[in-house]
Amino acid sequence: MNGTKEPRGMFCFMIIFFSLSSITTNMAYPLSTKSRWIIDEKGQRVKLACVNWPSHLQPVVAEGLSKQGVDEVAKKILEMGFNCVRLTWPLDLATNETLANNVTVRQSFQSLGLNDDISGFQKKNPSMIDLPLIEAYKKVVASLGNKNVMVILDNHVTKPGWCCGYNDGNGFFGDTFFDPATWISGLTKIATTFKGISNVVGMSLRNELRGPKQNVDDWFKYMQQGAEAVHEANSNVLVILSGLSYDADLSFVRSRPVNLTFTEKLVYELHRYSITNTHTWSSKNPNEACGEILKSIENGGGFNLRDFPVFLSEFGIDLRGKNVNDNRYIGCILGWAAENDVDWSIWTLQGSYYLREGVVGMSEYYGVLDSDWVSVRNQSFMQRLSLIQSPLQGPDPQHKVYNLVFHPLTGLCMLQSISDPTKVTLGLCNESQPWSYTPDNTLTLKDKYLCLENTGLKLSETCSSPNLSKWQTISASKMLLAAKSTNNTLCLDVDEANNLMVSKCKCMKGEDSSCDPISQWFKIVKVSK
Ligand SMILES: *[C@@H]1O[C@H](CO)[C@@H](O)[C@H](O)[C@H]1NC(C)=O
Ligand SMILES: *[C@@H]1O[C@H](CO)[C@@H](O)[C@H](O)[C@H]1NC(C)=O
Ligand SMILES: *[C@@H]1O[C@H](CO)[C@@H](O)[C@H](O)[C@H]1NC(C)=O
Ligand SMILES: *[C@@H]1O[C@H](CO)[C@@H](O)[C@H](O)[C@H]1NC(C)=O
Ligand SMILES: *[C@@H]1O[C@H](CO)[C@@H](O)[C@H](O)[C@H]1NC(C)=O
Ligand SMILES: *[C@@H]1O[C@H](CO)[C@@H](O)[C@H](O)[C@H]1NC(C)=O
Ligand SMILES: *[C@@H]1O[C@H](CO)[C@@H](O)[C@H](O)[C@H]1NC(C)=O
Repeated sequence: MNGTKEPRGMFCFMIIFFSLSSITTNMAYPLSTKSRWIIDEKGQRVKLACVNWPSHLQPVVAEGLSKQGVDEVAKKILEMGFNCVRLTWPLDLATNETLANNVTVRQSFQSLGLNDDISGFQKKNPSMIDLPLIEAYKKVVASLGNKNVMVILDNHVTKPGWCCGYNDGNGFFGDTFFDPATWISGLTKIATTFKGISNVVGMSLRNELRGPKQNVDDWFKYMQQGAEAVHEANSNVLVILSGLSYDADLSFVRSRPVNLTFTEKLVYELHRYSITNTHTWSSKNPNEACGEILKSIENGGGFNLRDFPVFLSEFGIDLRGKNVNDNRYIGCILGWAAENDVDWSIWTLQGSYYLREGVVGMSEYYGVLDSDWVSVRNQSFMQRLSLIQSPLQGPDPQHKVYNLVFHPLTGLCMLQSISDPTKVTLGLCNESQPWSYTPDNTLTLKDKYLCLENTGLKLSETCSSPNLSKWQTISASKMLLAAKSTNNTLCLDVDEANNLMVSKCKCMKGEDSSCDPISQWFKIVKVSK
C-alpha cells in the first residue's frame, strides 16, 4: 500500500519541516531507566522496538535457521525497522548441562526426526550445525550484536515446547516444572553467561505467569528474588518483570511497590492480544470495546508509566487480515502504543516453526516474515508499525513540542497537501508538518497558523467560523475526530483509496458489534524533540 499522494520530487519541501529521528543510532550500553524512559549511558532515550524470536520450542534452536543464514535474518530484522529482539529460552537450557553442552543442533533435530531441517541448516548455517545448543544460542546473540541489534533474553518456559497452557506445569512457582530455586539458578546462569555481551540489554524473568497456583504474595517473593539474582550476576541488564494472568495483570504493584536493593534497572512488561478479551471484541460496539480495553490496560499495568518503563512485550495479529477481532484490537492498541510512546516487541518474527505441537513446519500467520524467512508477510502491516518504531518523546526538556494526527489503519498521518496547500492528505508520518491540537480543540498547522475546517475539509487562515473548526475526540474509544459541519457533526475518515474525507460518525452509542468504525480511528500523538 502506498498512501502518499505527493509526487516524490516534492519531498525536499517537507523535510524542512521536521523529521522523526531514526532508531538505529549508536547506543552507548549498558541501558538504565530514568522515570518511565529507558536511557543509554549518555542519558539519551533508547526506545525498544523489538520483534520476538523464539528459541524455546523442542529443538531449543532459534527458529528459521534451516531456511536462512543467521546473519541474513539479523539483517532482515534491521531492514524491517526493528532495533531489538526478544529472544526466548527454555529454563532447561540453563539448568540441564547435558542439554546445553552435550547436544548439538544436529543431534537435537535428529532426535525429533527433523531430517529436512538438518539438510537445510547444513546449507544455510554450516558453522552452527555441530555446535552444542548453548553455543548456537550464543551465536544468534552475537550475530544480532554484529548488526547492533539489542537483545532481551526471555525465559519463556521450563520444558522446551510450545507455551502457554493454563495447566501445563510451567505456569507458576511451585508447578511441576517450575521450582523457584531451579529457576533462580537458571537465571543466574544465563545472566552470567551473557555478562559483558553489550547488546544483551535486558532479561525478561519469566513469560506469562498463570495457572491455578498464581498469587500475589508468591509473585512478590520470587520475582524480587529473581530480580536480585539477575542483578547480582550481571548488573548491566534491565530487569523485566511480567505480571499474572498471562502478563495482562500488574495491578497489584500500584499499592505495593516492588522492593529491590538496586534502582534504575526495573522495567515492567505487559502482553495484550485480541484473545485476551475475545468476548469484548466480538460482542461490543468497537468504540465501546476499545474504550473498555484501554481502561483495562491502564489498570492492568499501564499506570506504571508514571514511574517505570512499560514494555508491551507481546502483541500481534493474524497478518492475513481476516480476523475481525484482531483488526479492531490492533487499531486500538496501536493508538495506545503511539500515544504513550511505549517500548514494545511484536509477536512475532517467525514465518514458520521447525516443529510446533507435533506439526512439522507449521506456518505462523502472526509472523512478520513469510514461511521462506526472507519475504515480508504483509508489507502494509510494516507500514502500520513504522510510526511506533521511532522514539517520539523523551526525558529531556524539549525544544519543540507538537502533534501528529495518526491513522492506525494505514499507519499514515494527516499532512498538508503540497499540490494544494488548502487541502489535507494522508502521508508518511515522518514527513508530516507539525500540528498543534490546542486546548480549544482547533487543529492548526503549527508554523503556519492554518486550521482545519470540517466543511470541505480545508485549511483556512481565518478559521472563520470557530464552531466549525473545533475537533473533538469522541465516542467511548476517544478515537473519532469530530467537528460540526454546516448541518451536523461529521467525523474525519479515510476512503478505500486512502483519501481523507469526512463522513457520518460511526458506532456511536447504541449501535452493536456489527458496525465498523476503524477507518475513522485517529490518534493525536504528542512528539517532543
Ligand atoms: C520517512 O521514512 C521513509 C521510510 O519509511 C524514508 O524513505 C524517508 O526518507 C523518510 N523521510 C524523512 C523526511 O526522513
Ligand atoms: C537433560 O537433557 C538431556 C538431553 O536432552 C535429557 O536426555 C535428560 O533427560 C535431561 N535431564 C533432565 C534432568 O531433564
Ligand atoms: C556427551 O555425549 C557423548 C556422545 O554424544 C556421550 O558419550 C557422553 O557420555 C555425554 N556426556 C554427558 C556428560 O552426558
Ligand atoms: C525491603 O526489603 C528489605 C530487605 O530486602 C527489608 O529490610 C525492607 O523492610 C523491605 N521494605 C519494605 C517496604 O517491604
Ligand atoms: C495484509 O493485511 C491487510 C489488512 O490489514 C489485508 O487486507 C491484506 O490482505 C493482507 N495481505 C496479505 C498478503 O496477507
Ligand atoms: C458557537 O458556539 C457557541 C457556544 O457553543 C454559541 O453560543 C454560538 O451561538 C455559536 N455560533 C455560531 C455562529 O454557531
Ligand atoms: C444543510 O441543510 C439545508 C436545509 O436542510 C440544505 O439545503 C443544505 O443542502 C444542507 N447542506 C449540506 C452541506 O448538507
